[in-house]
Amino acid sequence: MATLLTRLSSKAMDNLLLKGKKIVLGVTGGIAAYKAVEVVSRLRKAGAEVHVMMTREATEFVTELTFREISGNPVAQDMWAKVQQYNVEHIALANLADLMLIVPATANVIAKAAVGIADDLMTTTILATKAPLFFAPAMNTGMYENPATQVNLSVLKERGFRIIEPATGHLACGVEGKGRLPEPAAIVQEVFDFFAEAKALQGKRILVTAGGTEEALDPVRFLGNRSTGRMGYAIAEIAAKRGAEVVLVSGPTSLAVPAGVRAVKIRSAREMEQAVLAEYDRVDAVIKTAAVADYRPKETAPQKIKKSDGELTLTLVRNPDILYKLGQHKKHQVLVGFAAETNDLETYARKKLEKKNLDFIVANDVSAHDAGFGTDTNRVQIFYRDGREESQPLMSKARLAGLILDRLKEQWDEMSEGIELFPKS
Ligand code: PMT
Repeated sequence: MATLLTRLSSKAMDNLLLKGKKIVLGVTGGIAAYKAVEVVSRLRKAGAEVHVMMTREATEFVTELTFREISGNPVAQDMWAKVQQYNVEHIALANLADLMLIVPATANVIAKAAVGIADDLMTTTILATKAPLFFAPAMNTGMYENPATQVNLSVLKERGFRIIEPATGHLACGVEGKGRLPEPAAIVQEVFDFFAEAKALQGKRILVTAGGTEEALDPVRFLGNRSTGRMGYAIAEIAAKRGAEVVLVSGPTSLAVPAGVRAVKIRSAREMEQAVLAEYDRVDAVIKTAAVADYRPKETAPQKIKKSDGELTLTLVRNPDILYKLGQHKKHQVLVGFAAETNDLETYARKKLEKKNLDFIVANDVSAHDAGFGTDTNRVQIFYRDGREESQPLMSKARLAGLILDRLKEQWDEMSEGIELFPKS
Protein backbone atom coordinates (compact mmCIF):
# COMPACT_ATOMS: atom_id res chain seq x y z
CA MET A 1 0.00 0.00 0.00
CA ALA A 2 2.75 2.38 1.01
CA THR A 3 4.62 1.54 -2.20
CA LEU A 4 1.51 2.15 -4.27
CA LEU A 5 0.98 5.51 -2.59
CA THR A 6 4.61 6.43 -3.16
CA ARG A 7 4.31 5.47 -6.82
CA LEU A 8 1.10 7.39 -7.27
CA SER A 9 2.44 10.46 -5.60
CA SER A 10 5.71 10.40 -7.50
CA LYS A 11 3.80 10.11 -10.80
CA ALA A 12 1.57 13.00 -9.82
CA MET A 13 4.66 14.95 -8.81
CA ASP A 14 6.28 14.19 -12.18
CA ASN A 15 3.28 15.67 -13.94
CA LEU A 16 3.43 18.79 -11.81
CA LEU A 17 7.08 19.16 -12.74
CA LEU A 18 6.31 19.50 -16.45
CA LYS A 19 3.21 21.67 -16.21
CA GLY A 20 3.69 24.67 -18.50
CA LYS A 21 7.30 23.80 -19.33
CA LYS A 22 8.26 24.64 -22.91
CA ILE A 23 10.12 21.80 -24.54
CA VAL A 24 11.62 22.07 -28.00
CA LEU A 25 12.03 18.62 -29.48
CA GLY A 26 14.31 18.24 -32.49
CA VAL A 27 13.78 15.21 -34.72
CA THR A 28 16.63 14.21 -37.01
CA GLY A 29 16.63 11.70 -39.84
CA GLY A 30 16.88 8.22 -38.41
CA ILE A 31 14.61 5.19 -38.42
CA ALA A 32 13.91 5.80 -34.71
CA ALA A 33 12.19 9.09 -35.59
CA TYR A 34 8.82 7.34 -35.19
CA LYS A 35 9.54 6.88 -31.46
CA ALA A 36 9.81 10.67 -31.09
CA VAL A 37 6.06 10.79 -31.77
CA GLU A 38 5.40 8.92 -28.52
CA VAL A 39 7.90 11.12 -26.68
CA VAL A 40 5.96 14.21 -27.78
CA SER A 41 2.69 12.60 -26.79
CA ARG A 42 3.94 11.65 -23.31
CA LEU A 43 5.44 15.09 -22.69
CA ARG A 44 2.21 16.75 -23.70
CA LYS A 45 0.13 14.46 -21.51
CA ALA A 46 2.39 15.45 -18.61
CA GLY A 47 1.45 19.09 -19.17
CA ALA A 48 4.42 20.32 -21.22
CA GLU A 49 4.07 22.66 -24.19
CA VAL A 50 5.97 20.90 -26.97
CA HIS A 51 7.40 22.55 -30.09
CA VAL A 52 8.83 20.23 -32.69
CA MET A 53 11.53 21.04 -35.21
CA MET A 54 12.57 18.56 -37.88
CA THR A 55 15.45 18.21 -40.26
CA ARG A 56 14.50 17.65 -43.89
CA GLU A 57 15.78 14.06 -43.58
CA ALA A 58 13.49 13.44 -40.60
CA THR A 59 10.47 14.24 -42.78
CA GLU A 60 11.44 11.23 -44.91
CA PHE A 61 10.65 9.01 -41.93
CA VAL A 62 7.68 10.72 -40.27
CA THR A 63 5.51 13.47 -41.71
CA GLU A 64 5.43 16.97 -40.37
CA LEU A 65 1.66 16.60 -40.11
CA THR A 66 2.02 13.79 -37.55
CA PHE A 67 4.10 15.97 -35.23
CA ARG A 68 1.85 18.98 -35.76
CA GLU A 69 -1.19 16.94 -34.70
CA ILE A 70 0.52 15.26 -31.75
CA SER A 71 2.18 18.42 -30.41
CA GLY A 72 -0.69 20.80 -31.20
CA ASN A 73 1.86 23.32 -32.50
CA PRO A 74 3.30 24.20 -35.89
CA VAL A 75 6.42 22.27 -36.80
CA ALA A 76 9.57 24.23 -37.61
CA GLN A 77 11.57 22.78 -40.42
CA ASP A 78 12.84 25.14 -43.07
CA MET A 79 15.02 28.16 -42.22
CA TRP A 80 13.70 29.94 -45.27
CA ALA A 81 10.05 28.99 -45.12
CA LYS A 82 7.45 31.70 -44.59
CA VAL A 83 7.42 32.50 -40.90
CA GLN A 84 4.18 31.23 -39.37
CA GLN A 85 4.45 31.84 -35.69
CA TYR A 86 7.96 32.49 -34.54
CA ASN A 87 9.93 35.69 -35.20
CA VAL A 88 13.36 34.69 -36.43
CA GLU A 89 12.42 31.05 -36.15
CA HIS A 90 15.60 29.45 -34.87
CA ILE A 91 16.26 32.26 -32.40
CA ALA A 92 12.68 32.25 -31.18
CA LEU A 93 12.73 28.49 -30.61
CA ALA A 94 16.12 28.71 -28.97
CA ASN A 95 14.86 31.38 -26.59
CA LEU A 96 11.51 29.94 -25.69
CA ALA A 97 12.84 26.50 -24.68
CA ASP A 98 13.01 25.55 -21.02
CA LEU A 99 14.65 22.41 -22.32
CA MET A 100 15.70 21.15 -25.73
CA LEU A 101 15.69 17.49 -26.62
CA ILE A 102 17.10 15.96 -29.80
CA VAL A 103 15.35 12.62 -30.43
CA PRO A 104 16.75 10.74 -32.23
CA ALA A 105 20.15 12.41 -32.56
CA THR A 106 22.04 11.09 -35.57
CA ALA A 107 25.84 10.86 -35.71
CA ASN A 108 25.65 13.76 -38.16
CA VAL A 109 23.81 16.19 -35.86
CA ILE A 110 26.02 15.16 -32.93
CA ALA A 111 29.13 15.91 -34.98
CA LYS A 112 27.78 19.28 -36.10
CA ALA A 113 26.79 20.25 -32.55
CA ALA A 114 30.23 19.26 -31.26
CA VAL A 115 32.02 21.61 -33.64
CA GLY A 116 29.37 24.33 -33.83
CA ILE A 117 28.23 23.90 -37.43
CA ALA A 118 24.96 25.71 -38.03
CA ASP A 119 23.74 25.00 -41.55
CA ASP A 120 20.04 24.39 -41.08
CA LEU A 121 17.24 25.28 -38.69
CA MET A 122 18.01 22.40 -36.31
CA THR A 123 21.73 23.11 -35.93
CA THR A 124 21.32 26.90 -35.73
CA THR A 125 18.74 26.43 -32.98
CA ILE A 126 21.06 24.06 -31.13
CA LEU A 127 23.89 26.57 -31.39
CA ALA A 128 21.74 29.53 -30.34
CA THR A 129 20.00 28.07 -27.31
CA LYS A 130 21.02 28.59 -23.71
CA ALA A 131 18.47 26.02 -22.56
CA PRO A 132 19.59 22.67 -21.15
CA LEU A 133 20.13 20.39 -24.12
CA PHE A 134 19.67 16.61 -24.26
CA PHE A 135 20.78 14.36 -27.08
CA ALA A 136 19.32 10.88 -27.47
CA PRO A 137 21.71 9.22 -29.96
CA ALA A 138 20.36 6.42 -32.16
CA MET A 139 22.38 4.87 -34.93
CA ASN A 140 24.08 1.77 -36.23
CA THR A 141 26.53 0.24 -33.70
CA GLY A 142 29.54 0.82 -35.94
CA MET A 143 28.69 4.50 -36.26
CA TYR A 144 28.07 4.80 -32.53
CA GLU A 145 31.31 3.09 -31.58
CA ASN A 146 33.36 4.96 -34.15
CA PRO A 147 35.99 7.06 -32.30
CA ALA A 148 34.80 10.16 -34.16
CA THR A 149 31.30 9.81 -32.67
CA GLN A 150 32.67 8.94 -29.25
CA VAL A 151 34.91 12.01 -29.23
CA ASN A 152 32.00 14.19 -30.34
CA LEU A 153 29.82 12.78 -27.56
CA SER A 154 32.55 13.45 -24.98
CA VAL A 155 32.86 17.03 -26.21
CA LEU A 156 29.12 17.53 -25.77
CA LYS A 157 29.18 15.93 -22.30
CA GLU A 158 32.11 18.09 -21.24
CA ARG A 159 30.15 21.18 -22.25
CA GLY A 160 27.41 20.12 -19.90
CA PHE A 161 24.95 18.70 -22.43
CA ARG A 162 23.21 15.50 -21.44
CA ILE A 163 23.52 12.37 -23.47
CA ILE A 164 20.74 9.84 -23.02
CA GLU A 165 22.64 6.57 -23.39
CA PRO A 166 21.42 4.45 -26.28
CA ALA A 167 20.17 0.96 -25.48
CA THR A 168 21.66 -2.31 -26.69
CA GLY A 169 19.57 -4.65 -28.79
CA HIS A 170 18.41 -5.47 -32.27
CA LEU A 171 18.90 -2.52 -34.61
CA ALA A 172 16.91 -1.71 -37.71
CA CYS A 173 19.99 -2.37 -39.84
CA GLY A 174 19.85 -6.02 -38.75
CA VAL A 175 22.74 -6.12 -36.26
CA GLU A 176 22.72 -6.59 -32.50
CA GLY A 177 24.57 -3.93 -30.55
CA LYS A 178 24.51 -0.54 -28.90
CA GLY A 179 22.76 2.28 -30.70
CA ARG A 180 19.03 1.73 -30.18
CA LEU A 181 16.98 4.69 -29.10
CA PRO A 182 15.78 4.04 -25.54
CA GLU A 183 12.05 3.56 -25.08
CA PRO A 184 10.05 6.83 -25.08
CA ALA A 185 9.07 6.32 -21.42
CA ALA A 186 12.75 6.19 -20.45
CA ILE A 187 13.51 9.35 -22.41
CA VAL A 188 10.63 11.20 -20.79
CA GLN A 189 11.79 9.95 -17.38
CA GLU A 190 15.14 11.70 -17.99
CA VAL A 191 13.19 14.90 -18.55
CA PHE A 192 11.23 14.41 -15.30
CA ASP A 193 14.49 13.70 -13.47
CA PHE A 194 16.04 16.86 -14.86
CA PHE A 195 13.23 19.11 -13.67
CA ALA A 196 13.14 17.30 -10.33
CA GLU A 197 16.87 17.91 -9.99
CA ALA A 198 16.32 21.57 -10.84
CA LYS A 199 14.27 21.75 -7.65
CA ALA A 200 16.43 19.42 -5.62
CA LEU A 201 17.85 22.16 -3.43
CA GLN A 202 14.80 24.37 -3.30
CA GLY A 203 14.28 25.86 0.14
CA LYS A 204 17.94 25.43 1.07
CA ARG A 205 20.30 28.30 1.77
CA ILE A 206 23.91 27.65 0.86
CA LEU A 207 26.94 29.78 1.53
CA VAL A 208 29.86 29.20 -0.83
CA THR A 209 33.25 30.83 -0.52
CA ALA A 210 35.50 31.11 -3.56
CA GLY A 211 38.77 32.55 -4.78
CA GLY A 212 41.84 33.51 -2.83
CA THR A 213 42.32 36.23 -0.27
CA GLU A 214 44.72 39.15 -0.62
CA GLU A 215 46.68 40.29 2.43
CA ALA A 216 47.91 43.83 1.92
CA LEU A 217 51.55 44.75 2.46
CA ASP A 218 51.04 48.33 1.41
CA PRO A 219 48.53 50.17 -0.85
CA VAL A 220 49.84 48.40 -4.00
CA ARG A 221 51.15 45.00 -2.90
CA PHE A 222 49.65 41.95 -1.29
CA LEU A 223 50.32 38.33 -0.38
CA GLY A 224 48.00 36.11 -2.34
CA ASN A 225 47.61 32.67 -3.92
CA ARG A 226 46.72 31.11 -7.26
CA SER A 227 43.01 30.51 -6.72
CA THR A 228 40.92 31.74 -9.65
CA GLY A 229 37.55 31.09 -8.02
CA ARG A 230 36.52 28.60 -10.73
CA MET A 231 35.76 25.74 -8.37
CA GLY A 232 33.69 27.85 -5.99
CA TYR A 233 31.86 29.71 -8.75
CA ALA A 234 30.92 26.40 -10.38
CA ILE A 235 29.43 25.21 -7.08
CA ALA A 236 27.53 28.45 -6.59
CA GLU A 237 26.18 28.35 -10.14
CA ILE A 238 24.94 24.78 -9.97
CA ALA A 239 23.49 25.20 -6.49
CA ALA A 240 21.44 28.15 -7.79
CA LYS A 241 20.37 26.15 -10.84
CA ARG A 242 19.12 23.45 -8.49
CA GLY A 243 16.93 25.93 -6.72
CA ALA A 244 19.02 26.86 -3.66
CA GLU A 245 19.33 30.40 -2.35
CA VAL A 246 23.05 30.98 -2.74
CA VAL A 247 25.33 33.57 -1.22
CA LEU A 248 28.82 33.61 -2.61
CA VAL A 249 31.55 35.20 -0.53
CA SER A 250 34.27 35.76 -3.06
CA GLY A 251 37.83 36.96 -3.12
CA PRO A 252 38.98 38.97 -6.15
CA THR A 253 38.45 37.07 -9.42
CA SER A 254 37.76 37.86 -13.05
CA LEU A 255 34.70 35.62 -13.09
CA ALA A 256 31.14 36.87 -13.54
CA VAL A 257 28.73 36.22 -10.68
CA PRO A 258 26.45 33.37 -11.79
CA ALA A 259 22.78 34.14 -12.42
CA GLY A 260 20.61 34.02 -9.33
CA VAL A 261 23.55 34.16 -6.92
CA ARG A 262 24.04 36.93 -4.34
CA ALA A 263 27.71 37.86 -4.15
CA VAL A 264 29.62 39.51 -1.32
CA LYS A 265 33.02 40.65 -2.54
CA ILE A 266 35.89 40.68 -0.07
CA ARG A 267 39.67 40.94 -0.26
CA SER A 268 41.30 39.75 2.95
CA ALA A 269 40.78 36.74 5.19
CA ARG A 270 39.44 38.97 7.93
CA GLU A 271 36.89 40.49 5.53
CA MET A 272 35.91 36.98 4.50
CA GLU A 273 35.52 36.01 8.13
CA GLN A 274 33.18 38.94 8.78
CA ALA A 275 31.09 38.26 5.69
CA VAL A 276 30.81 34.54 6.42
CA LEU A 277 29.91 35.00 10.09
CA ALA A 278 27.25 37.55 9.16
CA GLU A 279 25.49 34.90 7.04
CA TYR A 280 26.22 31.80 9.09
CA ASP A 281 23.13 31.56 11.31
CA ARG A 282 20.69 31.73 8.43
CA VAL A 283 22.28 29.19 6.09
CA ASP A 284 21.79 25.42 5.94
CA ALA A 285 25.25 24.64 4.58
CA VAL A 286 28.63 26.20 4.02
CA ILE A 287 30.96 25.01 1.27
CA LYS A 288 34.36 26.54 1.88
CA THR A 289 36.15 26.39 -1.42
CA ALA A 290 38.15 29.57 -0.91
CA ALA A 291 41.89 29.48 -0.52
CA VAL A 292 42.26 31.59 2.60
CA ALA A 293 45.67 32.99 3.52
CA ASP A 294 46.80 31.47 6.80
CA TYR A 295 49.05 34.46 7.50
CA ARG A 296 49.00 38.18 6.86
CA PRO A 297 51.69 40.85 7.26
CA LYS A 298 51.78 42.11 10.83
CA GLU A 299 51.83 45.67 9.55
CA THR A 300 50.25 47.14 6.42
CA ALA A 301 52.30 50.14 5.40
CA PRO A 302 50.08 53.17 4.79
CA GLN A 303 52.28 54.18 1.85
CA LYS A 304 54.11 52.25 -0.83
CA ILE A 305 57.17 50.57 0.68
CA LYS A 306 60.27 52.01 -0.95
CA LYS A 307 62.99 49.64 -2.00
CA SER A 308 66.39 49.92 -0.41
CA ASP A 309 69.56 47.87 -0.72
CA GLY A 310 69.63 44.65 1.21
CA GLU A 311 66.92 42.36 2.47
CA LEU A 312 63.43 43.19 3.54
CA THR A 313 62.06 41.18 6.42
CA LEU A 314 58.33 40.74 6.81
CA THR A 315 56.69 39.58 9.98
CA LEU A 316 53.55 37.56 9.40
CA VAL A 317 50.82 36.86 11.91
CA ARG A 318 48.14 34.15 11.84
CA ASN A 319 44.84 34.85 10.19
CA PRO A 320 41.66 33.51 11.73
CA ASP A 321 40.79 29.98 10.66
CA ILE A 322 37.26 30.72 9.48
CA LEU A 323 36.17 27.15 8.92
CA TYR A 324 37.46 26.10 12.34
CA LYS A 325 35.32 28.83 13.88
CA LEU A 326 32.27 27.69 11.92
CA GLY A 327 32.87 24.14 13.14
CA GLN A 328 32.99 25.36 16.75
CA HIS A 329 29.67 27.15 16.44
CA LYS A 330 27.94 24.60 14.25
CA LYS A 331 24.22 24.11 14.95
CA HIS A 332 22.04 22.81 12.11
CA GLN A 333 24.52 23.56 9.30
CA VAL A 334 26.26 21.02 7.13
CA LEU A 335 29.89 22.02 6.77
CA VAL A 336 31.91 21.11 3.70
CA GLY A 337 35.60 21.93 3.57
CA PHE A 338 38.22 21.66 0.86
CA ALA A 339 41.77 20.54 1.45
CA ALA A 340 44.49 21.75 -0.90
CA GLU A 341 47.45 19.42 -0.46
CA THR A 342 50.65 18.61 -2.29
CA ASN A 343 51.46 15.45 -0.29
CA ASP A 344 49.92 13.05 2.22
CA LEU A 345 46.47 14.04 0.98
CA GLU A 346 44.49 11.59 3.08
CA THR A 347 46.32 12.22 6.37
CA TYR A 348 46.01 15.99 6.16
CA ALA A 349 42.46 15.96 4.83
CA ARG A 350 41.24 13.66 7.62
CA LYS A 351 42.94 15.86 10.24
CA LYS A 352 41.15 18.93 8.86
CA LEU A 353 37.83 17.06 8.74
CA GLU A 354 38.18 16.22 12.43
CA LYS A 355 39.69 19.45 13.71
CA LYS A 356 37.25 21.73 11.87
CA ASN A 357 34.21 19.57 12.74
CA LEU A 358 33.20 19.10 9.10
CA ASP A 359 30.63 16.75 7.61
CA PHE A 360 32.85 16.01 4.67
CA ILE A 361 35.98 17.33 3.06
CA VAL A 362 36.93 17.47 -0.62
CA ALA A 363 40.67 16.97 -0.99
CA ASN A 364 42.56 17.90 -4.14
CA ASP A 365 46.19 17.34 -5.00
CA VAL A 366 47.17 20.85 -6.04
CA SER A 367 50.55 19.75 -7.34
CA ALA A 368 48.90 17.99 -10.31
CA HIS A 369 48.90 19.95 -13.56
CA ASP A 370 45.24 19.21 -14.29
CA ALA A 371 43.74 19.63 -10.80
CA GLY A 372 43.43 22.26 -8.09
CA PHE A 373 44.33 25.88 -8.75
CA GLY A 374 43.49 27.59 -12.02
CA THR A 375 42.42 24.53 -14.01
CA ASP A 376 39.05 23.73 -15.58
CA THR A 377 39.29 20.19 -14.23
CA ASN A 378 39.79 18.63 -10.84
CA ARG A 379 40.44 15.20 -9.35
CA VAL A 380 39.39 14.72 -5.75
CA GLN A 381 38.99 12.35 -2.86
CA ILE A 382 36.10 12.94 -0.50
CA PHE A 383 36.36 11.96 3.17
CA TYR A 384 33.34 11.66 5.43
CA ARG A 385 32.91 11.80 9.19
CA ASP A 386 31.87 8.17 9.42
CA GLY A 387 35.19 7.07 7.91
CA ARG A 388 33.90 6.53 4.35
CA GLU A 389 35.92 7.87 1.47
CA GLU A 390 35.53 8.02 -2.27
CA SER A 391 37.99 8.75 -5.06
CA GLN A 392 36.70 10.57 -8.09
CA PRO A 393 38.43 10.56 -11.48
CA LEU A 394 39.45 13.70 -13.36
CA MET A 395 36.38 15.69 -14.37
CA SER A 396 35.33 19.24 -15.16
CA LYS A 397 34.86 21.54 -12.19
CA ALA A 398 31.24 21.98 -13.27
CA ARG A 399 30.65 18.25 -13.05
CA LEU A 400 32.45 18.01 -9.73
CA ALA A 401 30.32 20.87 -8.42
CA GLY A 402 27.21 18.83 -9.24
CA LEU A 403 28.65 15.79 -7.51
CA ILE A 404 29.52 17.73 -4.33
CA LEU A 405 25.98 19.10 -4.26
CA ASP A 406 24.61 15.56 -4.69
CA ARG A 407 26.62 14.53 -1.64
CA LEU A 408 25.40 17.53 0.31
CA LYS A 409 21.81 16.61 -0.52
CA GLU A 410 22.47 13.05 0.65
CA GLN A 411 23.65 14.44 3.99
CA TRP A 412 20.41 16.39 4.36
CA ASP A 413 18.36 13.35 3.36
CA GLU A 414 20.16 11.24 5.96
CA MET A 415 19.63 13.93 8.57
CA SER A 416 15.91 14.15 7.87
CA GLU A 417 15.59 10.34 7.92
CA GLY A 418 17.11 10.45 11.40
CA ILE A 419 14.37 12.78 12.66
CA GLU A 420 11.46 10.89 14.18
CA LEU A 421 8.30 12.48 12.85
CA PHE A 422 6.09 10.79 15.45
CA PRO A 423 8.31 10.11 18.44
CA LYS A 424 6.93 7.48 20.80
CA SER A 425 5.79 9.02 24.07
O1 PMT B 1 39.76 28.66 -7.39
P1 PMT B 1 40.35 27.60 -8.31
O2 PMT B 1 41.47 28.14 -9.18
O3 PMT B 1 39.30 26.88 -9.08
O4 PMT B 1 41.07 26.51 -7.37
C1 PMT B 1 40.32 25.69 -6.53
C2 PMT B 1 41.01 25.45 -5.19
C3 PMT B 1 42.33 24.73 -5.41
C4 PMT B 1 41.25 26.76 -4.47
C5 PMT B 1 40.03 24.56 -4.34
O5 PMT B 1 39.79 23.35 -5.02
C6 PMT B 1 40.60 24.27 -2.95
O6 PMT B 1 41.34 23.34 -2.73
N1 PMT B 1 40.20 25.11 -1.95
C7 PMT B 1 40.75 25.06 -0.57
C8 PMT B 1 42.01 25.85 -0.49
C9 PMT B 1 42.56 25.88 0.93
O7 PMT B 1 42.73 26.94 1.48
O8 PMT B 1 42.75 24.70 1.49
P2 PMT B 1 43.38 24.48 2.97
O9 PMT B 1 43.68 23.03 2.98
O10 PMT B 1 44.46 25.43 3.24
O11 PMT B 1 42.19 24.81 3.94
C10 PMT B 1 41.26 23.85 4.42
C11 PMT B 1 39.87 24.45 4.53
O12 PMT B 1 39.86 25.46 5.55
C12 PMT B 1 39.38 25.12 3.28
O13 PMT B 1 38.03 24.81 3.14
C13 PMT B 1 39.58 26.61 3.54
O14 PMT B 1 38.60 27.40 2.89
C14 PMT B 1 39.42 26.69 5.05
N2 PMT B 1 40.25 27.73 5.66
C15 PMT B 1 41.61 27.70 5.57
C16 PMT B 1 42.38 28.66 6.19
C17 PMT B 1 41.73 29.69 6.92
N3 PMT B 1 42.43 30.64 7.52
N4 PMT B 1 40.40 29.73 7.00
C18 PMT B 1 39.64 28.76 6.39
O15 PMT B 1 38.41 28.80 6.46
